[in-house]
Amino acid sequence: MSREALIELLQTRLGLDPGTLGPRVIDDAFADARRALAAADDAALYHRVLLDGKAFSEFSECFVVPETWFFRTPEQFQDLVRFAREQPARRPLRILSLPSSTGEEAYSAAMALLEAGFVPADIDVLGIDVSQAAIRRASAGVFRRSALRGQPIPSPWLHEADDGSLVADPVLRRCVRMRVGNALDPKLLQAEQGFDVLFCRNLLIYLRPEARTQLLHTLLSAARVPALVLAGQAEVLSSLSDALRPYEGGCPLSFVHGAPRAASAAHAPPKAAPRPAPRATPSPAPVPAQKRPVKSARQATPAVAQEDIARAHQLADAGQVDQARAACLAHLVRQPADVDALYLLGLLESAAGNAEAAERAFTQVLYVDRDHLDAIEQRVGLAERRGAGDQARDLRARAARLRQRHREAAP
Ligand SMILES: C[S@@+](CC[C@H](N)C(=O)[O-])C[C@H]1O[C@@H](n2cnc3c(N)ncnc32)[C@H](O)[C@@H]1O
Repeated sequence: MSREALIELLQTRLGLDPGTLGPRVIDDAFADARRALAAADDAALYHRVLLDGKAFSEFSECFVVPETWFFRTPEQFQDLVRFAREQPARRPLRILSLPSSTGEEAYSAAMALLEAGFVPADIDVLGIDVSQAAIRRASAGVFRRSALRGQPIPSPWLHEADDGSLVADPVLRRCVRMRVGNALDPKLLQAEQGFDVLFCRNLLIYLRPEARTQLLHTLLSAARVPALVLAGQAEVLSSLSDALRPYEGGCPLSFVHGAPRAASAAHAPPKAAPRPAPRATPSPAPVPAQKRPVKSARQATPAVAQEDIARAHQLADAGQVDQARAACLAHLVRQPADVDALYLLGLLESAAGNAEAAERAFTQVLYVDRDHLDAIEQRVGLAERRGAGDQARDLRARAARLRQRHREAAP
């Protein structure tokens, strides 16, 4: 009972949908929270966090997914630079990174612009995240080496410290501000209006539908139109708001808010229900039938959504990768934690040659179901292909441990 009440707190205060995390992650998070707050059981935990904001914040740290890295989805940073050039009167260019996690996204935005010849006075990036720990690290401008994901150190903006960590150059630091904030707080951006670029990536997938709508409304209300809005993988923002249209010539996850064609809808509230309308990408080979995902027993999907995903499979079988991908993304707007759809998306991205997007999809599968052997194996192949030998080895070992567990559990 206390556990349900605690989950409800996460839902109402942060908008999180704990179902997106999977039961094992939830169990681990509760164990971490009990340890962090010295609570003997969930009932004691509930009494600790209910009326104590600081304790709730420590509790919620255990449930957020802070994963991020520098130049995640690099095409979107190219879109940012192009948009900045298209809007020469917008100086400084005001950029919001919500959620920013440990800051890699916010600092990447500033680095992309500095690299393109903009000066610090042209750049004002604000990063916001609900996690105090993440914001502390982001404010310090010190990052783990692994946040580069094998990319070279972006010199001269980041420096390697003696302990191997990366430290932001003072010039870069001047471009970026950080603060703690809850995306569901309606007053979050009251004093910070007029953003030209909004990064809102990889949070919506963890939120309940009402929270997604609310967050998008808060964001769009704080934008100076036309604004560039950058979404995360599997987050088809245009399905949530009529005020967004694809950024022409840009990445399929980049949108413009309040462009002339949609001027009358520029401040329209987000739509209550999503519609499937993602953009297509070039179409190569069909997805081999033997690679089709096996339905996870944990994921009970409503009948209507089942039809969508069945259509995505049919299209994939017919080699219509773009259309299958579109059906999959549309489905994921409604069922963001559907393991089968995420796995199919990974296969489709892989078939289309989008290795980075494929890796993201398989990683998301593992957020929901950390024991998804097929997804681990797909990640092994992708990590090998991009030369990340250490990561491939770790993943292979993880797959081997899992197979061993399956063997031991077999009757
Ligand atoms: C997966 S990270 C995404 C970081 C970055 N945008 C990216 O795409 O790399 C998700 C972040 O959302 C934050 N978060 C979760 N709920 C939030 C909320 N209600 N308000 C603000 N941040 C939240 C978490 O603390 C976590 O750092």
